Amino acid sequence: MPGIVIVGAQWGDEGKGKVVDLLAEQADAVVRFQGGNNAGHTIVRDGEEFKFHLIPSGILYPDKLCMIGNGVVLDPRILLDEIDGLKRRGIDVSNLRISANAHLIMPYHVLLDTAGEVRLGKLSVGTTRRGIGPCYADKALRLGIRVQDLLDEKILRKKIMAALAFKQQALRELSVQRRKLRKEAGEGAREGADPSVAAAPDPRLDLHSLTEEFAGYGHRLEPHIADTARLCWEALDGGHTVIFEGAQATLLDLDHGTYPFVTSSNPIAGAATVGAGIGPADIDQVWGVAKAYATRVGAGPFPTELEDEAGRHMLERGHEYGTTTGRERRCGWMDLVALRYAVRLNRMDALTITKLDVLSGLDPLLVAVRYRSREGAIFDQFPYHQSILHSVEPEYEELAGFDLDLSECRSEADLPAQARAYLDFIADFAGVPVRLVGVGPGRDQVVWVGQSAD
Ligand code: IMP
Repeated sequence: MPGIVIVGAQWGDEGKGKVVDLLAEQADAVVRFQGGNNAGHTIVRDGEEFKFHLIPSGILYPDKLCMIGNGVVLDPRILLDEIDGLKRRGIDVSNLRISANAHLIMPYHVLLDTAGEVRLGKLSVGTTRRGIGPCYADKALRLGIRVQDLLDEKILRKKIMAALAFKQQALRELSVQRRKLRKEAGEGAREGADPSVAAAPDPRLDLHSLTEEFAGYGHRLEPHIADTARLCWEALDGGHTVIFEGAQATLLDLDHGTYPFVTSSNPIAGAATVGAGIGPADIDQVWGVAKAYATRVGAGPFPTELEDEAGRHMLERGHEYGTTTGRERRCGWMDLVALRYAVRLNRMDALTITKLDVLSGLDPLLVAVRYRSREGAIFDQFPYHQSILHSVEPEYEELAGFDLDLSECRSEADLPAQARAYLDFIADFAGVPVRLVGVGPGRDQVVWVGQSAD
């Protein structure tokens, strides 16, 4: 099975990094195909913790090719920090390849992201403020700057110059609007307190220094820049296994998620084709990763959200704080209506259920099996209409909980009957087998269900 896509089945932070890390053991290459450093993967290897935002999770294996595909938006400063951090810890990064076609997150993208969120006020998306949306917007506007542009200072300067004029104007307008709003709200005294909306020209947006700074990144990244699509074809055509690593998750998908409370890329399996440069027939398997409960960071509908003791239990026992922003994640029961939607949308072959250990001590365990609208209409399927999704109430099935600490379980037989029944219920409802279960953060803290991956 040479092409395997791994995607998040919920709202992100499902533990995809750990699953990729485990499956990568039997793969030859790992490719990220969308998103940027809004993502955060934590991998615990021999008690040592590694946090990645951009580098594919397979980097801890010295013999795997790790690629950042063309669909990724890349902040070169963050990437270089990650490379340096890994080198300091003795990890070889010579197998890292970066697509020459990937787009760069520029400082003005980060400023615009923050300024846009501030401008939206109560309507803000709750982005990670890493410049993801503005960077993808520039890509669509054909004003983007790509990795390959770093290699020619003349071209780089021209492209930055073309983009910069619009950005400075947009930032100025956002700043003026913001000041007007503050004045109306009688907040004149605090004016200018927010550096993200400071009046342009911003010294961080000086053409000359930006060009120099980015050309410098180009020199450092040059050994890693490659035609990653071709490298994928060579691996796949040679019968090697390639893992396509999704970031974020299905319900944050720009087209199919809970728009506008989504990210600006397509984190679903189909997007691996565009974001890595392969054909649909190159994908042999799609694995979805879901937590045993649900979490969400940022704003947007979340039907099964809890604001009670059970939610607190998930937050604390599951250490539900963002890897990228440190924000507290919203927690709730497993939403099977949303999961079944994600299974179909990605045409998943298998599910991985992570953090099952976190549910220990909760009884009963609730799983949402349908929604009810304010008017009493029943939704067995994930509703496409945003206003409906915002106001639905979940209807739950109650399943028996368990008290056993699962962190030492390594086989299905070690799991309590209630935990197995919980997994069976999820698999039956979603219509795909659960193949792997996470019972702790460690690499070895997993239970293979049925047969193992090999
Ligand atoms: P952006 O991707 O920074 O534009 O943020 C858009 C939405 O996606 C916000 O609700 C973020 O909290 C969410 N988001 C982006 N990346 C991740 C992630 O890796 N995990 C969970 N949520 C994310």
